[in-house]
Amino acid sequence: MATKRYMQPPPQYVHDWFSPLRSSEVVPGKVTNFTFMGNELIAFRDAAGEVVVLDATCPHFGAHRGVGGRVIDGCVRCPFHALHFDGNGQCVKGEFVKDARNLRHLKSVPWTVHEAAASIFVWHGADRRRPDRPLRFAEPGFFDGWSTPVTNAGRRLAPTNVFFPTENIIDIQHFYAVHAWDLRAVEKAPGEDVDGTFSAVMQMTWRAGAQSPNALVRRLGRSYASPFHFDVRVLGPGLAISIATLTPAQGGLQIMSIIMITPINETDCHIRVANCVRHTIDSPLNRLARRLLGGGLEEVLSRVFLAVATKDFDGDEMIWTNRRFLPNPKPLPDDGPIIEYRRWCERFWPPDYLPDAPDAPDAEVIAPRHADAGAAE
Ligand code: FES
Ligand SMILES: [Fe+2]
Repeated sequence: MATKRYMQPPPQYVHDWFSPLRSSEVVPGKVTNFTFMGNELIAFRDAAGEVVVLDATCPHFGAHRGVGGRVIDGCVRCPFHALHFDGNGQCVKGEFVKDARNLRHLKSVPWTVHEAAASIFVWHGADRRRPDRPLRFAEPGFFDGWSTPVTNAGRRLAPTNVFFPTENIIDIQHFYAVHAWDLRAVEKAPGEDVDGTFSAVMQMTWRAGAQSPNALVRRLGRSYASPFHFDVRVLGPGLAISIATLTPAQGGLQIMSIIMITPINETDCHIRVANCVRHTIDSPLNRLARRLLGGGLEEVLSRVFLAVATKDFDGDEMIWTNRRFLPNPKPLPDDGPIIEYRRWCERFWPPDYLPDAPDAPDAEVIAPRHADAGAAE
């Protein structure tokens, strides 16, 4: 029996929005080099401070514009022949070119970029200028009522298929086994929502130090158990949003986490979280701090929760970086709707991706033993 397409090794280079950089990594006046989906790219800020992402390779004679390149008047200057490229990727000046009209045909098509949540998002699709779908965070007012989002360096996942981290979000058993969270109730079973995202609402309990290899830390941590309401939404293979609401006894604090998974190359990904806390702490002191310091308790707490969220990936990282994709896994009723999730994910596959092709990545993991067993459904 043929294996279903969505049960075959999923592509690493999927079509959606991803965040390969933090805002703080693109400093005015400097060129930033990075690798995204196997492409060598550069980022810089134009004269208005907007982030521009271009291929690193200069369209003139192929120099790497991020090595020796400089930003001058919001344009990147290639070190090889001193041609200047603006935010549209257009060559607008050549320091040693007499007639600027000769530069018109020199252009590199810019990538579509949006800056939000202390992060830089890049569209990866069939047409880099025309995203197939909007980015949620670009909606005006999306972060109204929340503290300014903060993020950190995150971590490289080598190797990890881009689909592993988001698949975890609907993997109920792993919350117990890897995170030692306690799932008390499922309010909305994981599934596709009316808005096309894949969402779930659960009541969880988090315990301090539960993942520690040290038995004493685990025992001490048990006395700090924090129940929370967990609303999680997968937007795409590289983006998920969770909103955790703590109990009224804990002030009903709400923490929004944006989880960003970005393929670097054919084998490796990067994971990072951006966090913010809803402005609900209405004490005179907090109002004063906001006015005088530009940030209140929510700003401080968002950094604390960011550290907790980042640390919580310790156990996941071990699993993801050592996991193999099985086209015929053996799901249990306790796992969550992983098959349904994989089917949902297929919409992000490049239409021309052929997992059956002999040169498909990871094709060798389809062992005959599993193929014979038929599809998992
Ligand atoms: S290769 Fe970049 S200016 Fe010539
Ligand atoms: Fe996890």
